[in-house]
Order: sequence, then C-alpha cells, then structure tokens
Amino acid sequence: MERKVMIANSKGMRAEVCTLGATLVSLFFKDKNGVEKDLVLGYDNPADYLNHTTYFGATVGRNGNRIKNGKFTLNGTEYLLEKNDGENNLHSGSKGLCYKEWEVEKETENSVTLSSVSKDLEQGFPGTMTAKVTYAIGEDNALSIDYEAVSDKDTVANFTNHSYFNLGGHDSGTMVNQKLKLYSSKFTPVDGTLIPTGELRDVKGTPMDFTEFKAIGKEIDAEDEQLKFGGGYDHNFIVDGKGYRLMAEAVSEDTGIHMKAYTDAPAVQFYAGNFIKKQVGKGGCAYDDRHGFCLESQYCPDAVNNPTFESPILKAGETYRTRTVYQFSID
Ligand code: GLA
Repeated sequence: MERKVMIANSKGMRAEVCTLGATLVSLFFKDKNGVEKDLVLGYDNPADYLNHTTYFGATVGRNGNRIKNGKFTLNGTEYLLEKNDGENNLHSGSKGLCYKEWEVEKETENSVTLSSVSKDLEQGFPGTMTAKVTYAIGEDNALSIDYEAVSDKDTVANFTNHSYFNLGGHDSGTMVNQKLKLYSSKFTPVDGTLIPTGELRDVKGTPMDFTEFKAIGKEIDAEDEQLKFGGGYDHNFIVDGKGYRLMAEAVSEDTGIHMKAYTDAPAVQFYAGNFIKKQVGKGGCAYDDRHGFCLESQYCPDAVNNPTFESPILKAGETYRTRTVYQFSID
C-alpha cells in the first residue's frame, strides 16, 4: 500500500514523496509575504498517478524521454520497447518505474531513500536493475534528488524527475509570465515526432534562446517549426560545461520565488506543459496546459540510437549515479 513521506528542513521548507512511483507530490516554500506555496502540480489521490500520462512529479526510469521506433541494439542484440507515443517509446512505457510501488529504504527528518528492482527485460530493457532515489532538503533550501542504479547486464540508465513547477503556486494558473534562464547555448532540434535529428543547433537568434532571463510565454507561440512540433517548448537543451553545474534559473515576480537548478547530467528537457489537459489537481483546483514547466535533467533523447550524443549505457556491475538539485530563495 502506498504512503506519503514528509521531509523538511528547519527553515520550514518541506516536501512530500509518495512511494508510488517515488513521486514528488508537493513542495512547500514561503513566498515574499511569508505565505506558504506548493510549487509542484500533482494529485491528492495516489491512484490518480496510476492513470495519468502527464508524469506529475514522477521518477522516470529506466529511461527518460523518447527512444525512436521503440527499439535499440546493444552488444548485438535488438531490444524492443513499448510504443506508447506514436511509433516511439516515451518515458519507458506504460509499465515504467513511475507506476510501481517503491520501497522506503531509509527515512530521516529531511531525507528519504526509495528503491525498486526491475527484472531482466522488464519494460524491454536488458539486465536486472536495482535503482535508488534519494530526496533530501538541505538547510540551504535545496531539494536534491540523487539517483543510483546497478544492473547485472549492460543496459540503459537515464533517470529523471518529471516535476511540473509553478513558482506562483501549483494552483495559480498559467506560468507563462514566469521568467526562465537556461545555461544552454545549444539545443537538439527534433523531427515531427519529437526525436532529435542529431544536430546540435545554436539557440542564438531563435525562440530557444533563454541565455538571458525571458518570460516563458514571450515567444512560445512564435512561427517556428521547432515550436510547432512541440506545441510550444518541449526540447532538449545541452547544459553548457561539464560536471555538476547550474542548468537553469526561474523566477515568479508575483511571489518573488526564485529557483536555481543544478545537475551533473549532460542535458535538460525544458517542457512547458503544452500537453496538460484540463483536469482537477490537488485541493480540487483546475489545471490546464502550461500551468507548470518541467526541467528534466537527462541524457539526450534517443541517445541509445544516436552516436553523436553522450552514451546512456551503464555497464554490468558498474554504478550509475546522477544528481539534480532545485534550490529556492526569495528575490
Ligand atoms: C516529456 C515529453 C513531453 C510529454 C511529457 C509528458 O517532457 O518530452 O513531450 O510527453 O513528457 O506529458
């Protein structure tokens, strides 16, 4: 039976994680007036997380984002995945780890570690894999998410968190006036099915340029082929530099809440919630498209099929580790 675990720091920042899908269901932080806001979209009823395809707060694995034609070849063997997004595999299919019950391994006041074992060929991926995710809230008001995975065969490991942030509060409506800065000078253009073509394109001179703070909605509906394909932003940006570094910042002028996001992953999917359907969210509030944005740290989509991208292959017996941090302050 699923349960929710509350974690908090001594400053009053707190978060709730559900064992179903190791999902981040809420994230509370006080705004410039001292009013507590819940900054992520989600549902009250855990069962709703079983039916959704929006991936609110989900731990996505074993592979985040798309794999072209739902297949790849590794060590001479072809592996077939579910085609749950047209001809492609998205977020590891309808049996992804976000629909499974995770076990709580360790719980402290400010952190929780959950684990999940997926069997050889579960979701179609080779190797029995043990995955762990740790959520922790530091005294610096940073929510860190650390992933670890080990497999007994060479396989794909590319975990991410799919939280939809709204720095005005999850129930405050559209987030298009919130400002975003991405530490990315290049993105990976996609075809009409949102699979990267392999090109690395400069953001300069295109609506993809977030190298200076810009309202998310400023150019989201511009006449631009890439934006048309995604119905708005739904693109993979290469995070400048290597190692653990800043990947993005965002701010709401209404609440003064400022978020800085860090990762050691090569890239980040900036998704503007274009496909959120009208629905009822936490506390009975109404969600609609663009009520939240995602910054999903990851290997490039379809990297397993695309030699131009850094490889997402985890070797048998080796440990995959990656960390993403969302830190909050008031401007
Ligand atoms: C990712 C994808 C989007 C969409 C969402 C889930 O961010 O890139 O196209 O499928 O997940 O709704």
